[in-house]
Amino acid sequence: MTALFDRLVVSSLPFVPKPIVRSFAARYVAGNTLEDAISTIRTLASEGAMATVDVLGESVTQREQTLATRAEYLRVVDALAASGLPANVSIKPTAVGLSIDPALALENCAAICARARDHGMFVRLDMEDSPHTDATIRLTLDLRKEFSNVGTVLQAYLRRSLADIGRLEDAGVNVRVCKGIYIEKREIAYKDRGAIIENFSALVAKHLAAGCYTAIATHDEACVQLALASIDRLRIPKDRYEFQMLLGVDPVLRKSLIDAGHRLRVYVPYGRDWYAYSTRRLKENPAIARHVLRSMAGLGPAPA
Ligand code: FDA
Repeated sequence: MTALFDRLVVSSLPFVPKPIVRSFAARYVAGNTLEDAISTIRTLASEGAMATVDVLGESVTQREQTLATRAEYLRVVDALAASGLPANVSIKPTAVGLSIDPALALENCAAICARARDHGMFVRLDMEDSPHTDATIRLTLDLRKEFSNVGTVLQAYLRRSLADIGRLEDAGVNVRVCKGIYIEKREIAYKDRGAIIENFSALVAKHLAAGCYTAIATHDEACVQLALASIDRLRIPKDRYEFQMLLGVDPVLRKSLIDAGHRLRVYVPYGRDWYAYSTRRLKENPAIARHVLRSMAGLGPAPA
């Protein structure tokens, strides 16, 4: 019954006025400007966390927009380097032109990787929905020919990921493993929570065992525990992996990992294009989406 209600809540989100979504989504986004992001990163650094910055925006259809995104990333890279804060950048390949022309995305990413390399900074290509998986892996491997400071992401819900991680291992690529956030068909994606967790654990263990730097991106205690067991069994040193979490999600787990001495990085998105990112986050968390709808209806907080 709760699951059915949650599905109804989630499907109602597009009808909720943006200012209401905004007030609940604020926890997931640093703000509109680079200065907002830097101030969030400074607070995270004081708590012992590193950051990766995402300039919000995706599925761009105009070449000019991709050039503006590239210019903004160059500004971010310079500002982060000047701040001395422990931070790097994450890029959505479609925001820099992957669905317009892969050569354009390569050119834009190469410019960002070159500037980041000058500052000794890492660049990660996020993984979007499955029509972009092949192109994102190809883009990463093409960039790797010139830049050692670039890596990507694999999604544990995709049946293909165990094979893909082998290709990335061969090139020594730093991979972030996450469950995956887009809606995919059962033909290509595991739907069962247990199967996704097992695949997550298998991907992390395989990448660590291959000697490749691994970013373990999850708030799921089961995934964290299985990753810690692999790290222990394989005797992986602390500078060969990091945990990653989203801004606004589970600060208690975040603190417990930092207190135990693990490297931890928080994904810090900023920008005016906050809506698509935030509604994906709200859909992951129907409890908050319920508050959004109650607020729209003029009701108080939902009962716990
Ligand atoms: P799960 O969804 O089971 O959540 C575990 C627990 O965490 C939940 O029970 C809940 O308590 C809490 N939680 C999770 N999401 C929450 C939310 N939004 N609000 C409040 N609580 C929440 N995906 C992708 O397809 N491509 C990518 O490139 C990335 N990149 C990425 C980077 C980083 C740093 C992270 C942490 C995640 C991603 N993701 C991603 C998203 C990822 O695929 C996944 O959707 C979310 O991290 C949620 O999965 P969990 O592993 O946390 O498990």
